[in-house]
Amino acid sequence: MNDFLDVAVQTAREAGKLLSELFERPHQISYKRPLDIVTEGDRRSESLITERLRRHFPDHGIIAEEGGGHSSNSDYCWYVDPLDGTTNFAHGFPVFCISLGLARRDEVVVGVVLDPTRQELYTAERGGGAFLNGKRLHVSKIDKLAEGLLATGFPPFDNHHELNIGYYLRFTRVSHGVRRAGSAALDLCSVASGRFEGFWELKLNPWDKAAGALLVTEAGGRITDLKGGPFKLRGNEIFASNGLVHEAMLRVFSQAASGDLPGRDASLVPGNLPVD
Ligand code: IPD
Ligand code: CA
Ligand code: CA
Repeated sequence: MNDFLDVAVQTAREAGKLLSELFERPHQISYKRPLDIVTEGDRRSESLITERLRRHFPDHGIIAEEGGGHSSNSDYCWYVDPLDGTTNFAHGFPVFCISLGLARRDEVVVGVVLDPTRQELYTAERGGGAFLNGKRLHVSKIDKLAEGLLATGFPPFDNHHELNIGYYLRFTRVSHGVRRAGSAALDLCSVASGRFEGFWELKLNPWDKAAGALLVTEAGGRITDLKGGPFKLRGNEIFASNGLVHEAMLRVFSQAASGDLPGRDASLVPGNLPVD
């Protein structure tokens, strides 16, 4: 397994160097469909990564976001997000990463996420723990949702926004807040490192979440769907937490389905907002 991890780390570092250089220059942006952008960073990072993975593991399959992968009969398949946080990258907002996950028969066994801006390298092997720049990671010990910092994301092209804005509203009322930083892989790493207590998203692709999901479980966290059912790499939904706030968050998802608004305080309706 070491070889898989070593190659993934080396490849992510090379792609990170490339993205850091491109980030400083004006970006050529094109549209995959309305609102869904792609930059030369996505394409060039993906070419570099797929070339390296093919060279080292010619029989492995590769599923890569910009279409540079190939199928194979091997049990092993790499899930490649060459630039997670494309919109941030395109706007010069320095929150983006490279995410590489290796699955064996749909079970992720190696995960590497590199944040080139902060030089933060997240690594995990199934059963071997999760690490940030070589230091062991553990999810946070906060066990009250009211004391938790959460995160979510909204895909650029999809019609689930209203549903998720409902969740966003509810969790904003009952926690320290909900961040929407624009990189699902980094959001998952932040659950693994204890910066966030929980993260959910409704429409993610396997390349967004393969590596980050392994990081969370190897750091002692829990991953399910939004009803508490098993997490599926090829499914859309993901809900990751430190485990301690999981049940409380599941109750909020379920209340949202019944239209109940937790934390509503009549004194806080517009017009009654307190001013310091
Ligand atoms: C996006 C980011 C974002 C998430 C979107 C993803 P991309 O990936 O992870 O945080 O909310 O759903 O599509 O397009 O930047 O690779
Ligand atoms: Ca992505
Ligand atoms: Ca991407």
